[in-house]
Amino acid sequence: MLLIVHHSPTPNLRSILDAVVRGANHEDLGGVEVRVREALSATIDDVLEADGYVIGTSANIGYISGAVKHFFDVTFDAASQATQRRPFSYWVHGRSDTSGAERAMESITTGLGWTKVAEPLCFLGTPDEQHLARAHDLGATVAATSMG
Ligand SMILES: Cc1cc2nc3c(=O)[nH]c(=O)nc-3n(C[C@H](O)[C@H](O)[C@H](O)COP(=O)(O)O)c2cc1C
Repeated sequence: MLLIVHHSPTPNLRSILDAVVRGANHEDLGGVEVRVREALSATIDDVLEADGYVIGTSANIGYISGAVKHFFDVTFDAASQATQRRPFSYWVHGRSDTSGAERAMESITTGLGWTKVAEPLCFLGTPDEQHLARAHDLGATVAATSMG
């Protein structure tokens, strides 16, 4: 099962999420289960049951969104031994500078011991077709490594 944990409160963020979910559900992947959870409602059971992860966040005040921070706050300890080496990637969307959020995602997932299997998608401004194609590929790539 692939777990997609996201914070997507605006239409631009929602369009990225939708493209990632479409990629993860691509028919060539033979129907890997895809579970989509808003960051504030994802649970430790979601995390432990998953074979791989895609995390999506806006950049907020130089960091990841509070919602995605909360997700890691409540799951990190229980996940850190049990989910080592599982595949993951992420997206970060912002309007001016996503670097703080990217650093946070790198250090949190390094702490978890997860394996990055696709280049993260980090960009500013209105998503264009190329961004959404990359979002689709991100979902498809992590789903393909989460077939267990
Ligand atoms: C309180 C707040 C803080 C923000 N801080 C950042 C930031 O540090 N860096 C950045 O690139 N964008 C920042 N943004 C912009 C959001 O990342 C952006 O609004 C979000 O990705 C949704 O994109 P959209 O506004 O194009 O729909 C912030 C937005 C809000 C509301």
